[in-house]
Amino acid sequence: MTTRTTTPPALHVRDVTVRFAGLTALDDVSFTVAPGTLHAVIGPNGAGKSTCFNVLSGLYRPARGSVRLGDEELTRLAPHRIAALGVARTFQNIVTTQGTVADNLMLGRHVLSRSGFAASALRLPRALREQREHLAAARGIAELTGLGEHFETPVALLSYGDRKRVELARALCLEPRVLLLDEPVAGMNAAERARTAEVVRDIRAELGLSVVLVEHDMGLVMRLADEVTVLDFGKAIAHGTPDEVRGDPEVLRAYLGTETTGEDAA
Ligand SMILES: Nc1ncnc2c1ncn2[C@@H]1O[C@H](COP(=O)(O)OP(=O)(O)OP(=O)(O)O)[C@@H](O)[C@H]1O
Ligand SMILES: [Mg+2]
Repeated sequence: MTTRTTTPPALHVRDVTVRFAGLTALDDVSFTVAPGTLHAVIGPNGAGKSTCFNVLSGLYRPARGSVRLGDEELTRLAPHRIAALGVARTFQNIVTTQGTVADNLMLGRHVLSRSGFAASALRLPRALREQREHLAAARGIAELTGLGEHFETPVALLSYGDRKRVELARALCLEPRVLLLDEPVAGMNAAERARTAEVVRDIRAELGLSVVLVEHDMGLVMRLADEVTVLDFGKAIAHGTPDEVRGDPEVLRAYLGTETTGEDAA
């Protein structure tokens, strides 16, 4: 499998503010994802976590603030440009139902294709070779994400846990340097959660990328994260190691003050 072997640059989020008609969804939020680390972004429902991912992936433009990957300014780039620079994401509520696992992963590879559509349609040798390489890479990613034995299986026939992991595998097919995972285990049972946690660990060990993880499953966050940023009503109220944030009085207040803590927003 072809992978980027260099350590990813740091992802700098600085003073990001997002407003929706009267509501400040993100209020001057700053944090840094150190190279090659797993950085969790947690907080109660509506805290602004998915909004933050929408800014990082270029779907929303912040009213102010900036996002940089190393020296590259991502703030005003279109989503496909950000993806091409190596930032890939999964969506909180998308679980694919169409095609086989291979079909879905090849869609993820599409962005990396060098031969144009015409060359592929005409079945030119270079396009065919490229196609074979992409298929091999997709197969490698399927293996890495625990979907190897289901490569040719229609996703509609997979268990929920496997189907949700197809979304993760599809994002990985972009060969990201930074992978944004928005609630990757929401709706999964305990065994599927454990399997997915293992996959996230394997991905990091194998590919050396940075991961930004949004998750309500605190056990998973505490086990996987190097660092945690806690959002509450759009503000970053705490940063630190899992142990540091767990004991932070502000964090306890934010969580105890909400009735939906721990629920899955699947
Ligand atoms: N496109 C939008 N238009 C208007 N308001 C929005 C939009 N997107 C998000 N919001 C609001 O911004 C706030 C933050 O939402 P966001 O989806 O980022 O929360 P979240 O932390 O991901 O929550 P959850 O844990 O439930 O997924 C919420 O009050 C939400 O209703
Ligand atoms: Mg969300």
